[in-house]
Amino acid sequence: NSINYVVEENIAIITINRPKFLNALNTEVLKELSDAVDIIAADTAVRAVIVTGAGEKAFVAGADIAEMQNKDVLEAREFSSLGNKIFSKLENLTKPVIAAVNGFALGGGCELAMACDIRIAGNKVKFGQPEVGLGIMTGFGGSQRLARLVGAGRAKELLFTGEMINAERANEIGLVNRVVDSSEVLEEAKRMAQMIASKAPLGVSFTKKAVNEGLNLDLERALSLEVELFGALFSTKDQTVGMTAFLEKRQAVFSGE
Ligand code: HXC
Repeated sequence: NSINYVVEENIAIITINRPKFLNALNTEVLKELSDAVDIIAADTAVRAVIVTGAGEKAFVAGADIAEMQNKDVLEAREFSSLGNKIFSKLENLTKPVIAAVNGFALGGGCELAMACDIRIAGNKVKFGQPEVGLGIMTGFGGSQRLARLVGAGRAKELLFTGEMINAERANEIGLVNRVVDSSEVLEEAKRMAQMIASKAPLGVSFTKKAVNEGLNLDLERALSLEVELFGALFSTKDQTVGMTAFLEKRQAVFSGE
């Protein structure tokens, strides 16, 4: 398998597993990733997801250049479209997704990390969008998500130069949420995932929807969306559970209902 998928307590961990090729994304990996996302979407026991890469050397060093080399226009468009569909499915999953990034996160690897909600990076990470050095451009959403995440100017610098940036710079421009020692990345991701998993799942899920969908709306509509989702949570058991526990000075245990 090119993807390992395990569930530990309420946390699903997806590992891109082609370490000999620095976890480069070929069609097979993308399809297995798609299947894993479908399984997670249907598994009510899963409350948070971690995406990582096998080995110390790379998160993902990009889309598979050997597979892309001889593609024609139509095949290239299909490959780009396949990846985009799967990354959007991951981005819109109703559960929070944390990228645990060690080593190279280049091209499609940087794009995969950006399709996750939160990025935790090791101190030796290298991010970059080297596509223009291969005579192509980003094709798994990089031109769009990078600009939204770090601003158009910084995105264009990375996209036009193809240069890699280190953990410190990635942190400085907001490409990652935090930097920890490379040996601590997965543990830190698990800690954060557990923290999120202890909160009300529908509260977290609706919040994700509000942020993601709201970013594509004007402010007035986005605020209406928040009002609607906020109201809807008052029909859930966990709203009663959470507020009652607070008033009785106990820890809330949420069921996700
Ligand atoms: C296929 C890859 C690969 C990739 C590495 N490998 N990246 N194979 N696609 N993206 C393979 C190498 O060919 C090599 O195979 C093995 O993995 C180990 O890599 P090395 O190059 O030997 O390692 P090193 O010298 O340490 O250099 C690491 C590296 C370099 C700097 C990360 O591998 C590199 O530049 N990789 C390509 C990065 C890149 O351009 N990514 C963007 C791809 S385009 P062998 O068989 O020799 O051992 C893209 C577009 C996305 O992502 C959108 C598509 C629609």
